[in-house]
Amino acid sequence: MKVRKAVIPAAGLGTRMLPATKTVPKEMLPMVDKPVIQYIIEEAVASGIEDILIVTNRAKSAMDDYFDYYPELEERLLRNGRQQEAAAVRYAADLANIFYVRQKETKGVGHAIWRAKRFVGNEPFAVLLGDDIMRAETPVLKQLMDAGAKYGASAVGVQTVEDCMISKYSSVKVSPLEERIYKVSDMNEKPSPEEKFSNYAILGRYLLSPEIFDILENTPPGYGGEIQLTDGLRQLCRKSPMIAVDFEGRRYDTGNLSGFLEATIDFALASSEIGPWMRAFIKEKAKTL
Ligand code: UTP
Repeated sequence: MKVRKAVIPAAGLGTRMLPATKTVPKEMLPMVDKPVIQYIIEEAVASGIEDILIVTNRAKSAMDDYFDYYPELEERLLRNGRQQEAAAVRYAADLANIFYVRQKETKGVGHAIWRAKRFVGNEPFAVLLGDDIMRAETPVLKQLMDAGAKYGASAVGVQTVEDCMISKYSSVKVSPLEERIYKVSDMNEKPSPEEKFSNYAILGRYLLSPEIFDILENTPPGYGGEIQLTDGLRQLCRKSPMIAVDFEGRRYDTGNLSGFLEATIDFALASSEIGPWMRAFIKEKAKTL
C-alpha cells in the first residue's frame, strides 16, 4: 500500500537548547537559510509523501504561520524587485498539504504520535522526528519506504553508534535479511552498554503500521515518565513484521547544541551561495586555533 501520510512530532519542550528555545520552537531555529523543520518536510515530500501532520503545542504557532502565505511580505518583496526571496517565501507554504494537531500535554513522543490517530486512519504512515535532519543522496525516508514495501513490514531507520552513545538511543535486536536490512525482534530505550541488544540505534525515521495507535493508547509511561514510542514499537514488532534499515546518509540531531552546530557548518559548506565563503572562513580561522 502506498504511503501517503507522514507525522512530525514537534511538540517537545526543547530543554536541551534553552534559553534559545524558550520562545522559539527548536524546529524553527534557522539552519543556514531555512528553519530545521523545512528540511524534514522537504525529505518527506521528496520521498513521495502528500499529507503531513505536525504535532505542535500552544507555544509553537510559529510553525503554522511559517507554512502559510504572507501576502503583504510577498507583495513588498516583488515591488522591490526581490523575486527570489518572494519565491522562497511562497515555496515553503506550497511544499505539501500540512495539517496540525496539538499535543495538549507534553507526555512523550509516543503520546505525540498517538495524537495522529484520526489523521492517519487505517493506513501505513511515516514518522519523522522534528529535530532530526538527514543529508542523503536518496532521502532516508524513501530508503525506509522502499525496504518496507519489499518486506511488507514496518521499518525503523538505524545506524551503528559506539557503546558510549547507545544509552542516548533505542537499541534494536536484529537478525540479517540482506545488506543493510535486518529483521527486528525486540528493542529497548536508552539502555546501558550491558543492557543493549546491539549497537544499532534508531535514528529519527519510522514507517509504521496503524496498529501502533491501539498499542500506544495502552502503553504506560516508561523512561523519564513519558509515553515512549520505543515501548510501543517493542510490542508492534512482536505482533507484525518490522525491519531495521541501516540507512545511507548522515543524521544530525539539531535538538542539542553540538548536533545543531555540526549541521550548520555542514549545510553551510554544502550551500552553493554561502559555501565558498564558509570554506575560506573556516580555513582562515583554523590557522589561529
Ligand atoms: P526529543 O526528546 O528530542 O524532544 O523528541 P524534547 O523533549 O523537546 O527534547 P529535550 O527537552 O531537549 O530533551 C523528539 C521529537 O519529538 C517531539 C520533539 O518536539 C522532537 O521533535 N516531542 C517530544 C513531542 O512532539 N512531544 C513530546 O512530548 C516530546
